[in-house]
Amino acid sequence: MATLSVNVDHVATVRQARLAKEPDPVTAALKAELAGADGITVHLREDRRHIQDRDLHLIRRTAKTRLNLEMAATSEMLGIALEVKPDMVTLVPEKRAELTTEGGLNVDGRGDGEKLKDFVRSLKEGGIPVNLFIDPSLDAVKASHRIGADGVEIHTGTYADAGTDGRRDMELKRVHDAVLLADRLSMKVHAGHGLNYINIKAVAAIAEIDEFAIGYSIVSRAIYVGIEAAVAEMKRLIG
Ligand code: PXP
Repeated sequence: MATLSVNVDHVATVRQARLAKEPDPVTAALKAELAGADGITVHLREDRRHIQDRDLHLIRRTAKTRLNLEMAATSEMLGIALEVKPDMVTLVPEKRAELTTEGGLNVDGRGDGEKLKDFVRSLKEGGIPVNLFIDPSLDAVKASHRIGADGVEIHTGTYADAGTDGRRDMELKRVHDAVLLADRLSMKVHAGHGLNYINIKAVAAIAEIDEFAIGYSIVSRAIYVGIEAAVAEMKRLIG
């Protein structure tokens, strides 16, 4: 059965709207764990638009489950990761103007591939397992394997955004094929982005997915029902 890592970035988004002390993503992380979350994910962005360094440090010290740090492959973030030592890192592309992570990493050998290889090696030498956030493409899975990543997180955003049934089935198949290849290459297989209480069902049926990283839909539902109920319901759907 797949596990659930709850992304608490958007609790921090609300706090940063007023540059205030609440709501606190650290409290949200602990409550999510009490409700059954198997892990906590935070994305420390270069522009610090939601999660702050203080959040990362406190969650590292207080969370009882696994901390997954999402970050861009920059030297600043490498230094932070090696100091904080999260249980794992997920490398993501980052653009200042985007509302959220828009696509997977460019893992192509002619693109960022060589740079990523060194970056992944540095994290692994620091004892931190690394996943690469990639689009659901077989080439991207193969390139991630060549780069030496421990696993991949398959981007489910295009599947989540697909409007018609035909398009959705096609996108689901792309996700499924990428998952199967990563699993065959003995890589950890995570999936996430845009998953909600409705579209999770079809991806939750893919047995080879080890973990889902879900944030926005859980935090949105938490406004109405509280974070414990929102996490517990997502756990139930994944299980
Ligand atoms: N995985 C990655 C790599 C992400 O960047 C995000 C968004 O921060 C998520 C998962 C979670 O996506 P969502 O907030 O849409 O559930």
